[in-house]
Amino acid sequence: MPEIRNVHSFITHDSARKHVSGKAYYVDDLPEPSNLLHCYFGTSDVAHARVLSMDLSAVEHYPGVVRTLTARDIPGDNEISPMHNFDEPVLATDLVQFAGQPLFAVLAESRAIARQAVKLAKIEYEELPAILDIETALKDQSFVLDPQVMKQGDSQVALSTSPNRLQGKIFTGGQEHFYLEGQVSMSLPKEDGDMLVLTSSQHPSEVQHLVARSLGKPINAVTVEVRRMGGAFGGKETQAAQWAIITAVFANATGRPVKLRLDRDDDMRSTGKRHDFLIQYDVGFDDEGRILGIEFEHAVRCGISADLSGPIADRAMFHSDNAYYLPDVTVTSYRCKTNTVSNTAFRGFGGPQGMVGIERVIDAIAYQLGKDPLEVRVINLYGLKERNVTPYKMTIKDNVLHSLIADLKESSNYTARRQQIAAFNQNSPVIRRGIAFTPAKFGISFTTTFLNQAAALVHVYKDGSVHLNHGGTEMGQGLMIKIAQIVADEFQIDLDRVKITATNTGKVPNTSATAASSGTDMNGMAARAAARKIKKRLIMFASKKFRVDKSDIRFINNHVVAGEFEISFAKLAEQAWMGRISLSATGFYRTPKIHYDPETSSGRPFLYFAYGAAVSEVEIDCLTGESRIIRTDILYDAGKSVNPAIDIGQIEGGFVQGAGWLTSEEVWWDNQGHLRTHAPSTYKIPTCGDMPEIFNVQIWQKGRNREKTIHRSKAVGEPPLMLAISVHSAINLAIAGKLNGETLPSLDTPATPEAILNCLSADT
Ligand code: MTE
Ligand code: HPA
Ligand code: MOS
Repeated sequence: MPEIRNVHSFITHDSARKHVSGKAYYVDDLPEPSNLLHCYFGTSDVAHARVLSMDLSAVEHYPGVVRTLTARDIPGDNEISPMHNFDEPVLATDLVQFAGQPLFAVLAESRAIARQAVKLAKIEYEELPAILDIETALKDQSFVLDPQVMKQGDSQVALSTSPNRLQGKIFTGGQEHFYLEGQVSMSLPKEDGDMLVLTSSQHPSEVQHLVARSLGKPINAVTVEVRRMGGAFGGKETQAAQWAIITAVFANATGRPVKLRLDRDDDMRSTGKRHDFLIQYDVGFDDEGRILGIEFEHAVRCGISADLSGPIADRAMFHSDNAYYLPDVTVTSYRCKTNTVSNTAFRGFGGPQGMVGIERVIDAIAYQLGKDPLEVRVINLYGLKERNVTPYKMTIKDNVLHSLIADLKESSNYTARRQQIAAFNQNSPVIRRGIAFTPAKFGISFTTTFLNQAAALVHVYKDGSVHLNHGGTEMGQGLMIKIAQIVADEFQIDLDRVKITATNTGKVPNTSATAASSGTDMNGMAARAAARKIKKRLIMFASKKFRVDKSDIRFINNHVVAGEFEISFAKLAEQAWMGRISLSATGFYRTPKIHYDPETSSGRPFLYFAYGAAVSEVEIDCLTGESRIIRTDILYDAGKSVNPAIDIGQIEGGFVQGAGWLTSEEVWWDNQGHLRTHAPSTYKIPTCGDMPEIFNVQIWQKGRNREKTIHRSKAVGEPPLMLAISVHSAINLAIAGKLNGETLPSLDTPATPEAILNCLSADT
């Protein structure tokens, strides 16, 4: 009998057909209860003000309106801060801190009525001075959290004794998540004042806790369920709770189910985005380009509250080295408070911003010395046995970049193409090309150590079919199919015998967000542990029944072989049930070996690193400033990939999302603090036409996790986004127009046509 091997196979996403045929249920597609009410919310239209009065009488008298809600009507805590900072309300009270901040909500017979009624509110403000940009926040020392410093060695001494020294800065823009399914929640009242909340959240447990707190009830009064999200990208790690709470408070007050779905423009105005950063550097290096000392200053736009800004700004510091050894280094991080929406998690979680900083430095060094930037990158890579300690004093033991870069350099024909581009540019004054090679190293684990835990619940029914549940959530990344593959292989049953089920706080409690790319690593281990518990009981049962030694029992191809006996898995399950054996188990996993001390900024915050590299070739039009990606080659170390089909999709999607962040997506507030890029008409995400024309994506065949992760795989969700930094570097080369340009063009991100044109006219 052949062994069943789903793991390491190319398997289609379980919902792929349902996604394209419209049969996948999202919250807004669920059959609506007949007594359902709809709500909407009204927001501040000024950036910073005292609220003098709020008159909602016209709203309340609008036909079809059931009632209104203000902060005073929330029975429990008016609070959504995820890290217990108590700095962000569900509904603002007497102070509004950004334009778009929710102030009140309206419950009505229909969504259209609720949205119309909202407009009738009369609110009087006394405006206060608003801080709208990072520079002003820095000057005014306006911070949501204290500044942090990470240091190793003495950067001051190293800088002052270096033969070469460069200073510079780069601004990295924000990014809107633009998940296809916007924020949405439906709350259904149950017996005894309990509440069932159906929502689109990466963090059902946090929604559960915050809803319970807002209702003034214990956590066990609230159940949260998430079947899937139509994309999240970090934008639903904390941002779903506010809307869930509004529906739950209304449902609690009326005893009727209540739904809220945000309009796209409001979703963009009222929910957080990627943090924009102002990064300054001062670097000392030798004549070959080797970094001797470096100082970074990160100024981070957090918006009005801390949200996840602490760990995000930390992760930016953790990745200010990217793949390079920084012997004497100081990184200072300022967590700026501005009167703009509170920024939040976004794929990479600060890592991309930190990495843009160091990649910029390497390019600047290469231009200064007239070298190929790849040469400077390679010379600065972490060593295998020495030069391998990070600024947070973790020794890197799994560095595969030397080998992976050599493989990609060859397969992409980088060196020859760079020369071809130089020749092309000499004869083409309007259309110019550039190429860049960028490695990425990304730390895997939540840097908040206690979050690195996961659990699962597995049932085997008496017909041998399996019910699989775990704490992870599906946002399109393919977590559910990967975990199902793992469980199916463990029991040696066909994949379609394993039922994928919605994440539910009543089945697996106290979970962490599905985030930090660790969904499969952690939930895969937990689910396997649960399956193994059941298997152990079945082995015990079979051993007694067939009178064979436990070591002679094997699960294989929908069967269990016990010595000379053979029985189908389904039959054995039925007999075990009749033999009064429990066929249900929980599994738990905590990531081993990790620890971190923020006081000394040292430890091992990550179990391992995911690695990859990309070569991108771009073309710019010097008359219009437009750019396009001609070709990208990616080599990514997914370890021994659990599902290469899913992983290649993650690499492609992550890269394109990163390219959007760095080239076309611009978050822009006017001088009154109004977000002017709040719709696809003004905010340009990549389409299929923006994909690289030639896109060679490969999982590195030599990959294998040296840590004992699930089937020796590596995380894949976030790191590929950072490979898009190659696009930005390549655009710089195209602007410079020649290989030995000496000064790096001063191109910030995003490299929009406008930015490219400005750069061309400034630098030539
Ligand atoms: N892929 C899709 N299709 N949709 C998403 O929302 N989110 C990304 C990434 N890939 C996302 C995605 C982010 S921010 C993270 S942290 C990981 O998926 C989370 O899932 P994982 O831990 O299972 O990889
Ligand atoms: N990544 C994503 N989400 C998080 C993290 C992290 O490192 N820490 C806390 N929430
Ligand atoms: Mo991903 S930013 O960790 O949700």
